[in-house]
Amino acid sequence: MKKPTNTAVPVLLIGATSDVGVQLAHEFARSGHPLYLTGRRPADLEPVASDLRLRYRTTVRIVALDVLQVDAARAVVRELRPTPHIAVCLVGLLGRQPDQEAHPELARAVIESNFLGPAAVLEAVAEMMAAVEAPTTIVGVSSVAGDRGRARNYYYGASKAGFTAFLSGLRQRLARSRTTVITVKPGFVATRMTAGMDLPSALTSSDADCARLIKRAVDRGQLVVYPWRWRMLMTVVGLIPERLFKQLRF
Ligand SMILES: NC(=O)c1ccc[n+]([C@@H]2O[C@H](COP(=O)([O-])OP(=O)(O)OC[C@H]3O[C@@H](n4cnc5c(N)ncnc54)[C@H](OP(=O)(O)O)[C@@H]3O)[C@@H](O)[C@H]2O)c1
Repeated sequence: MKKPTNTAVPVLLIGATSDVGVQLAHEFARSGHPLYLTGRRPADLEPVASDLRLRYRTTVRIVALDVLQVDAARAVVRELRPTPHIAVCLVGLLGRQPDQEAHPELARAVIESNFLGPAAVLEAVAEMMAAVEAPTTIVGVSSVAGDRGRARNYYYGASKAGFTAFLSGLRQRLARSRTTVITVKPGFVATRMTAGMDLPSALTSSDADCARLIKRAVDRGQLVVYPWRWRMLMTVVGLIPERLFKQLRF
């Protein structure tokens, strides 16, 4: 049984401008955690931070961090004092699949934004946490899209598959340390990323639902987390023979 999370420990949110990130900031601040909110446009975080300080009377610091500026981002992480004990990476880029097929530089941006950038930053987070003499937690928000490539979003899916494998490897490397590594694989979430898409309501959660899923995973020390309907669905999807799978359109 995992010990209850110490609510005085600082939490680092990487990609805090995301719709899920803002909701997650509320979840942690409500429990009393001080926060580092990071984003590539820190000014966008000012109203979020003011609201959190006012509502929950907790310390909220804003930090500029772009995961594509790898060296600068890693340096920023190493300099955070007090050291965060919980870090959640919410950075993601979906983009448009047809554009990525036609323009390799757009496909590269997807791979770098979902996989290489977050991985490099989380390595720095892991190194920083190694010096902490208490339990620490790293969360990577990946996606069910990484479980099996689909015509509709296979650059995004491939980048999330890479990120999922990275998190699995990091978890194994740190298994004998005090750091727990959690992979969260949301299904559809109604956010800025999916705006304008026709998503099935039974399989679509809100940003607040997704934030609660992540917070619960941290509190319980879960390792790989799906919304329950998606766990069942992806188990079935994983069993479909490739000859049949290639004919499907979903
Ligand atoms: N929505 C879904 O259906 C769904 C499903 C499965 C998984 N996910 C994952 O859940 C996470 C949160 O997504 P969301 O739905 O809340 O979408 P979102 O609002 O579009 O969030 C994406 C976030 O990534 C940030 N970002 C992108 N590139 C960055 C960079 N180079 N450096 C720093 N930050 C960067 C964005 O910052 P800016 O504000 O500066 O653009 C934004 O905060 C993502 O990892 C996404 O892939 C979402």
